[in-house]
Amino acid sequence: MKLEFLSAPLAQLSTPILVVYSFEDAAAASGTVERLPADVRALLGELQTNRELTGKSFECTLLHRPAGLAAQRLLVVGAGKKQKFNDAQLRRVAGAAVRYLRGRGLHELTWVLESDDARLESVQAVVEGAILADYDADRYRTEREAERRIDRLGLATGDAAPSEAARAGLERGRIIAEAQNFVRDLVNEPSNCMTPTILAEQAAAMAKRFGLDCQILGPDEIRELKMGAFWGVAQGSEEPPRLIVVRYTPADAPPAPVIGLVGKGITFDTGGISIKPSENMHEMKTDMAGGAMMLGVMQAIAQLKPRVRVIAVVPATENMLSGNAYKPGDVLTSMSGKTIEILNTDAEGRLVLADALTYAQQLGCTVLIDAATLTGAVMIALGHITTGVFGSSQEWVDRVLKSAAEAGEKMWQMPVDDDYREQYKSLIADLANTGGRYGGAITAAMFVGEFAGNTPWVHLDIAGTRWSNDEKPFLAKGPTGAPLRTLVQLLLSHAGGE
Ligand code: BES
Ligand code: MN
Ligand code: ZN
Repeated sequence: MKLEFLSAPLAQLSTPILVVYSFEDAAAASGTVERLPADVRALLGELQTNRELTGKSFECTLLHRPAGLAAQRLLVVGAGKKQKFNDAQLRRVAGAAVRYLRGRGLHELTWVLESDDARLESVQAVVEGAILADYDADRYRTEREAERRIDRLGLATGDAAPSEAARAGLERGRIIAEAQNFVRDLVNEPSNCMTPTILAEQAAAMAKRFGLDCQILGPDEIRELKMGAFWGVAQGSEEPPRLIVVRYTPADAPPAPVIGLVGKGITFDTGGISIKPSENMHEMKTDMAGGAMMLGVMQAIAQLKPRVRVIAVVPATENMLSGNAYKPGDVLTSMSGKTIEILNTDAEGRLVLADALTYAQQLGCTVLIDAATLTGAVMIALGHITTGVFGSSQEWVDRVLKSAAEAGEKMWQMPVDDDYREQYKSLIADLANTGGRYGGAITAAMFVGEFAGNTPWVHLDIAGTRWSNDEKPFLAKGPTGAPLRTLVQLLLSHAGGE
């Protein structure tokens, strides 16, 4: 999608489609509709009176040859209630416009910005919304939606030239949304096309392209490092595991903090010997969404250049069942030395994360953030809408929550509390790898946290939010790439950027 600013009086812009939004409850037309010349506004006023145009969220009204405009068409998108409007809603409204126009075989649009000097965040939101909406999970279809892609997005400032802030917003939005779509591509791949080896190759290719340092460890190194928990999961698969390490070390960053981003990279989760029911098992190709998302964050920050050191660690393996597979009752010795009794081989995510967290500390990380499709229980609690946040450091949890609000991604803090520790005690080892049905997302999170040592740690359970089960007006069904924007925002707000 080509992105460019257009500076001219709005009435004189000759474009196939000019896009404005209007609010629901305002007596007169309001929103960017107000920026249009009076004769078009009068026409829209008539439609409002007839209730043909209501301003309800994502309602799309397309007018041809609008009076007083050089544009061939005018699209008015509903933006909902004015009091509820914010940049998160703006992102969605822009997305809804893109998906509406794509559906009609239109490939070019000009978006009217909020004012002559639009804020950075608002330009960013529009660009993100447009690029995220212009995506379909259709790589393997012979008739692809891709033929409908939007080729050009113009951003109309009005009479004035775009400000520095507006230019920065465009760049930021493009980089972040492209990184999020990269994550969606990785997550969408079926497991026969996204093995641990292929995920590692993708990480290495991304790192090379964006000038990051990348190291890939294989089975021998994983065993040599005594990653007994990671290896326990990996040993049952014919596909060799990979430990992916990507480093971002800007010269102008202070030595601390070093932020460790640890992402679960199970390229397929059968459940192992504690095999899953077959009904929705195909969804387990997405069990590497946490790892993919961390790689996307690295792609974004490599371009946005915040002054903070970051290391991504992604333990990648399948969780299979075979003659070599680990079994319920087995005891594994993790890299930290802690022993783990396996009560359920389907609780594999916490095992690979355990060793990855120990390794991240060994690499010098002073803050740990992990993201994982860890539990079905978090989906029961929060559905597909909200990511569960857990952590040992309220300061860092608060930073994550604040960044999530700024990035328009929903998160909710869940408790960690020593009283739950009883649930994952083992009779014969230091820990058991399950804590029972009740509070399953909490005991899973706390198990992972046991391997963060004294390092401040935040855990994001994205089992629900990795995937959108239904088609939204502004977003295709399928992988979401969430919560990439939150983590990018966290790193930018921590240390600035270009
Ligand atoms: N990958 C799953 C969790 C999951 C479920 C992610 C549904 C996305 C959608 C995880 O490895 C798992 O199997 N968790 C078990 C843990 C249980 C055995 C303690 C679960 O949630 O049932
Ligand atoms: Mn599992
Ligand atoms: Zn899993």
